[in-house]
Amino acid sequence: MIEIKNLSFAYGKNQVLSDISFSAETGECVGILGNNGAGKSTLVTCINRILTPASGEVLIDGLSVSQMDRNELAKTVAYVAQKNQAYSCTVFDSLLMGRKPYIKWAVSDADLEICASVLKKMDLEDYQLRRLDELSGGELQKVLLARALVKQPKVLLLDEPTSNLDPKNQYESMAMVRKAAKENNITVFIVLHDLNLALRCCDRFFFLKDGKCCSYGGIETVNPATIKEVYGIDAEIAEINGRKFVAIG
Ligand SMILES: Nc1ncnc2c1ncn2[C@@H]1O[C@H](COP(=O)(O)OP(=O)(O)O)[C@@H](O)[C@H]1O
Ligand SMILES: [Mg+2]
Repeated sequence: MIEIKNLSFAYGKNQVLSDISFSAETGECVGILGNNGAGKSTLVTCINRILTPASGEVLIDGLSVSQMDRNELAKTVAYVAQKNQAYSCTVFDSLLMGRKPYIKWAVSDADLEICASVLKKMDLEDYQLRRLDELSGGELQKVLLARALVKQPKVLLLDEPTSNLDPKNQYESMAMVRKAAKENNITVFIVLHDLNLALRCCDRFFFLKDGKCCSYGGIETVNPATIKEVYGIDAEIAEINGRKFVAIG
């Protein structure tokens, strides 16, 4: 399980996160939700120590990430950033780079097999010899997700992973992430703006407002009062075939 305890962070005098505490179980998908500038990306990058929090700690299975060496941290926590640059290498090579924390002298058969299997699961086999810098924004986003999955991490951090994907790829990719989380006991944090997508793929919902936790819990947390408080908009919740949907306005 992952525990975030009393996490605070400031960019200079700009206090962005204030005393954030919450935890998630193994295999759970947690939606990180909130307005632009609320501190979602900052929170995610404090979890994997790209940013060093001013105070507080993050524990994964009881071990503080601040105690892990860089290689251990790279194996334990995989991350797909909100903004990404495409390098001039093939899709397959970029997946192999995801295995880097495991590779000692040479790439092993297991590394190759794991990459091939993730490519297959994500329906990316036809892309394996394509160059990253020649992919569309959505194709690149899928490849970066695949690169995170080949790490076989305990925690997966996805910052707006569907922003460039068409609706089919949005739902398919997130269904794949959810399945991978359950099958491989990965705790996933997903920064999302689409509340209906969050309802489909997340077990728990963390609403961030002005750097503070506004609400955290299961599906009942997604309700008109919280949506109004966090986003300042009116919303209704509807149920179709037993599934919950948010209608804005
Ligand atoms: N590198 C940075 N230096 C200074 N301020 C930053 C930096 N990155 C983000 N911020 C500020 O911190 C706040 C939170 O940003 P961010 O975590 O990116 O929000 P979100 O991901 O929720 O949109 C914003 O006000 C943003 O302008
Ligand atoms: Mg962000």
